[in-house]
Amino acid sequence: MIVPDHQKTNLRLNRLIVDRIKQIMSNSYGVFIHQARILLPNGDFLLGDVALVDGKIVEIASEIDHHALGRNDWEMIDAEGLTVLPGVIDPQVHFREPGLEYKEDLFTASCACAKAGVTSFLEMPNTRPLTTTQANLDDKLRRASEKCIVNYGFFIGATAENLPDLLDANPTPGIKIFMGSMHGDLLVSQEEILDQIFAKGDRLIAVHAEDQARINQRRQEFAGITDPAIHSTIQDNLAALQATQLALKLSKKYQRRLHILHLSTGDEAELLRQDKPEWVTAEVTPQHLLLNINAYDQIGTLAQMNPPLRSPQDNEILWQALLDGVIDFIATDHAPHTLEEKAKGYPNTPSGMPGVETSLPLMLTQAMAGKCTVQQVSNWMSTAVAKAYKIPNKGKIEVGYDADLILVDLDNYHPVLREEVVSKCGWSPFEGWELTGWPKYTIVGGKVAYKNGKVNTEVRGQALRFDAS
Ligand code: DOR
Repeated sequence: MIVPDHQKTNLRLNRLIVDRIKQIMSNSYGVFIHQARILLPNGDFLLGDVALVDGKIVEIASEIDHHALGRNDWEMIDAEGLTVLPGVIDPQVHFREPGLEYKEDLFTASCACAKAGVTSFLEMPNTRPLTTTQANLDDKLRRASEKCIVNYGFFIGATAENLPDLLDANPTPGIKIFMGSMHGDLLVSQEEILDQIFAKGDRLIAVHAEDQARINQRRQEFAGITDPAIHSTIQDNLAALQATQLALKLSKKYQRRLHILHLSTGDEAELLRQDKPEWVTAEVTPQHLLLNINAYDQIGTLAQMNPPLRSPQDNEILWQALLDGVIDFIATDHAPHTLEEKAKGYPNTPSGMPGVETSLPLMLTQAMAGKCTVQQVSNWMSTAVAKAYKIPNKGKIEVGYDADLILVDLDNYHPVLREEVVSKCGWSPFEGWELTGWPKYTIVGGKVAYKNGKVNTEVRGQALRFDAS
């Protein structure tokens, strides 16, 4: 029987409609990235295509016939001129929810993440209430499932009294201890209590290493000085070094998995260069690499953070330690405060600066300037983080891995502008810096969460999993 052409067209259309309905009913979705420069796990770049189906990377090749992959509803991305990297995993952020939502919340912060290529984050426990119990951890996970555009994990905070909570909390990347620079229950500075926490259990302990006794004494010594630059003198290099030495001592005593958060001094980097057990990792922030005490002259209290900015010489030693593998990866310590709070005048100003919205372009700009390679940046901001925190299926562009990807433009420079800041705090310490490597697309769980300047607020991330130690 000969079928007339218009009937053939109708049949084809009907088949397409049936396929589409089947896919919608099954919630299936596919994204096809065409002709990109793809960073492979071995460090090579491949000019080619990537197919993403239902949140997973299903094929990577120099040319993929997407018609042969059994679907016809691909969301096509023409990626010519763009570089595809694994999504950034930021392992230290303060997103302020619950309790401090006037500074930031999980929705606004995750929009800032999507804009800047951060597809997963690990968040800190100094919210209100503090994340020091399973119930409060569960509350954060529930809130995140409702409003987070990107993937999320939450630390459990140590107090002097919550050891049972620390042993059982789940899921969590680890235990956060503020050895200094904190008030109230989250401050755990006494060696006997720290010893008890290091002695029990085997999950990762992440420390904010500053010696509170030394800080208290120096606060008195320098009382009355209102120049914010004094902050770096009060909370000096030795305060950081002493606490890092204590954390290392306890970690070695119990062979306990230790991660040193935001390493800020050359002294600590040199210590780790001499003596870093294989179960210890350390991170550095872009601001401790790229800003120093000269920043107080330019941006005043916006430069105030804990641990404080250091000298240009510290910048150089930290860079070298990162390049040499003494420091394992990068975190932002995104810690937003409002401009009103920052205008109060030192010492009544809170410490902290936002970071998730600038970290990737800051580091890729360094790579394009020849300070490091794009591959190193991707390792420090994704692969090495997934490895250290044992986050399965993330941090690499490999078949079977989660489809958390970013497509960045390494050829065009754009300044950091206050009016473009997405974070609720509405400012950045890097305003005016001309940066490249801004994402054009951010893909979270196989869905386009950010595209050419616009966040897709319908996308939701997932709770991260952490494999056992
Ligand atoms: O400067 C900082 N601010 N450092 C921290 O570790 C905490 C943070 C905050 O929560 O504001």
